[in-house]
Order: sequence, then C-alpha cells, then structure tokens
Amino acid sequence: MANELNTLEDDQRKFVSNVSHDFRSPLTSIKGYVEAMLDGTIPTENQEKYLKIILFETERLNKLTESLLELNKYGKRGVMLDISKFDINHTIKMTAQTFEGICKDKRISIELILTGQTLFTNADISKIQRVIYNLLDNAIKFSPPGSTITVETTVKNEKIFVSVNDRGIGIPKESLGKIWERFYKSDLSRGKDKTGTGLGLAIAREIVLSHKENINVISTEGVGTKFIFSLPLCNQEDE
Ligand SMILES: Nc1ncnc2c1ncn2[C@@H]1O[C@H](COP(=O)(O)OP(=O)(O)OP(=O)(O)O)[C@@H](O)[C@H]1O
Ligand SMILES: [Mg+2]
Repeated sequence: MANELNTLEDDQRKFVSNVSHDFRSPLTSIKGYVEAMLDGTIPTENQEKYLKIILFETERLNKLTESLLELNKYGKRGVMLDISKFDINHTIKMTAQTFEGICKDKRISIELILTGQTLFTNADISKIQRVIYNLLDNAIKFSPPGSTITVETTVKNEKIFVSVNDRGIGIPKESLGKIWERFYKSDLSRGKDKTGTGLGLAIAREIVLSHKENINVISTEGVGTKFIFSLPLCNQEDE
C-alpha cells in the first residue's frame, strides 16, 4: 500500500516536472525575444523572423494545453463513452481524407485495405476517430517522402482489428516500452519532429483501454512501424 502510494507520488512528481519543463522552454524563448525587440537588441527590420518563432512557440503551447486537458479527462474512474453503432470503414476513409493536403506535400499515399463494404462496431465514434487520427499523424510524420502508409481492417474472433502500417524510421527496441508514456519521444524522432508533445499515443491508449480493448505496436528501426488496435464487432443484423 505504502509502496503503491510512493509510486503514485513519484509518477505525479515526474509528470509535473515534465509539464513544467515543456511549458518553460517555449515561454523562456518567447520572453527573451519580446524583451530583445522592446529594448532594441533585435532591430525592427529583423523582427519578422522572431515574431514567427514566437508564433510557432505559442501554437506549440496551445497544442500542449489542449492535449493535457484532454488527457485529464481520462482519469482512474474511466471516461464517459458515448457508444453508438457506426461503420469503422467509413470513419477511416473520412479521417484519412483530413490528411490529404499534407500527404500531397510529402508525396505520401495512404492505402486502405478494408474488409467488406461496411464494417460495424459499437464504440465512441469521435474518440475512435481521435485514435486513428493520432496514429496516422505519427505515421505521416515519421515516414519519408514518397512512401506508402497502409490502413487495414480485419475481422477475427468477433473482433475488428484496425492497423496503421508505415515504412518510416521505426522505433528503437529500447524505446518500444516507453512510447505510451506521457511526454515520451524517442531520440530517433526528435530531429524529425519538433512540434510533438509526446501525448498523442498516451491519449490513443487511454481511449482504447476505456473501451476495454487493446492497442499494440510492432516496429523495426529503419524499416517501419505497425500499430494495431481492436474494436468490438457488431453483427450487421444487430440493432
Ligand atoms: N509511426 C511511428 N514511427 C516512428 N516512431 C513513432 C511512431 N509513432 C510514435 N513514434 C514514437 O513515439 C513517440 C510518442 O508518440 P506520440 O504520438 O505520443 O507523441 P508525438 O507524436 O511526439 O507528439 P504528439 O502526438 O503529442 O503531437 C514519438 O515521439 C516517436 O518517438
Ligand atoms: Mg503523435
């Protein structure tokens, strides 16, 4: 019991220290640049460059705050799920479409291999959409230009499995156990993505677990990564 409390306190301390660090570094840079502009260290003609950095850091802080607020909803007592019957194939198509612009810029194609015309599940549609969004967001971020990402739905033992497979940088073996932790980012990925907060997978995992389903990852450094999560299968004749 005492041990459990200690770990809980340690976790909380680690969490607060991570959050503080993530807030402090952009704030320090914003403060520094604004002061330098006010006291003339940065001349007026050079201000645009620094205003753009300030905007970038503000957007990052914004994203961080939103992710933290969202994660905060998934407490110990579980999330309130708004369960309904919906076609997961359709949700995947819609979510993939939101990435059209960035995929075009990076010449990345998303290939969909979906089982059946429609495939019904019982789940919280907006939260599951968020899971697919976070997985696709990572797949695109960590894939080289010109590569293909595959999203697949399969059915096995009354379960639907959704997988997102990329041919990107992969995740080093020693990082695989840590990617679900809040704020964790592998060293390999840091250079590729400066805006990430390390909360996307923590949120995805909380959502899948709150549905009493599972999410897993298989990855090889330099080859690619596959995330796979399950959903309940809803028979077409069920209401
Ligand atoms: N498809 C992937 N390929 C390679 N590495 C990945 C992939 N998905 C996740 N990772 C690794 O896991 C880390 C955590 O992912 P997560 O989505 O939680 O955070 P993030 O993408 O860095 O930030 P955020 O999602 O909050 O914008 C990433 O920083 C990266 O190191
Ligand atoms: Mg992410």
